[in-house]
Amino acid sequence: MAPPFEMSNIGKRPSSSNAVRVVCTVSRHHNRCYGRLLIPPELRSSPLVEIIEERPRDRLAVETIARMSLGQRLVDSPAARLRQGSRKIAELSLVALEGGHVVATIRCWPVLIGAGTRAIQLGPVAVDPDHRGRGISRVLITTTLERARTLGHRIVVLIGDGDIYARYGFEPALPRDITLAETRDRERLHVLALVPNALAGLSGAVRPDTIPAL
Ligand SMILES: CC(C)(COP(=O)(O)OP(=O)(O)OC[C@H]1O[C@@H](n2cnc3c(N)ncnc32)[C@H](O)[C@@H]1OP(=O)(O)O)[C@@H](O)C(=O)NCCC(=O)NCCS
Repeated sequence: MAPPFEMSNIGKRPSSSNAVRVVCTVSRHHNRCYGRLLIPPELRSSPLVEIIEERPRDRLAVETIARMSLGQRLVDSPAARLRQGSRKIAELSLVALEGGHVVATIRCWPVLIGAGTRAIQLGPVAVDPDHRGRGISRVLITTTLERARTLGHRIVVLIGDGDIYARYGFEPALPRDITLAETRDRERLHVLALVPNALAGLSGAVRPDTIPAL
């Protein structure tokens, strides 16, 4: 049985800036990602993947991987419309590097729910097709959620498949009457409380948050 991936402090290097830096190996054999200190000897030669905040110079690679992965959905979908007019949250927009090359991306955006509850929209998440099935999106998503909680965010929404996201704690939003302004993809809207009771009593439509935080 493979040891569980344990993110807390493992493989993180202290940094003077706010930047996240996680180094881990991704397994070709077990479809899992391990913190460095947990790597079993037989996997120590596995490729190192580094998770860092997206830099301006990563933009072309990020957009290429996202376009390749999501096609038209990248620009024409309810998720894309929730991003319109907003700026991505830099601290929660990460890339996975292998050998210095971008192999995966995750971005997050500010949204509002109902009367004006702040939340973040997670996505797109996209992994270079040549690097899928190695645990890379798992470490990207886990790192992002952990970082979001540390930064004080309370609620995450995403539009995606429950099959993929339930493992991170996301639940369907519709039973809570948390909806989208448009009907398309409403049943694919998922929510996650990063702190206890963050979703209690919350309902309403998710919309872009184009008002800068004070
Ligand atoms: C979906 C995607 C991000 C997964 O990335 P990945 O790095 O291959 O995924 P991982 O290897 O980290 O897998 C993590 C877990 O998700 C599961 N998983 C991955 N893709 C899945 C899928 N399409 N359906 C169901 N489960 C899936 C894996 O089995 C693994 O499960 P485990 O933790 O129980 O072992 C990647 O395939 C991709 O970029 N797809 C195209 C873009 C896309 O669909 N993005 C999601 C938008 S909603």
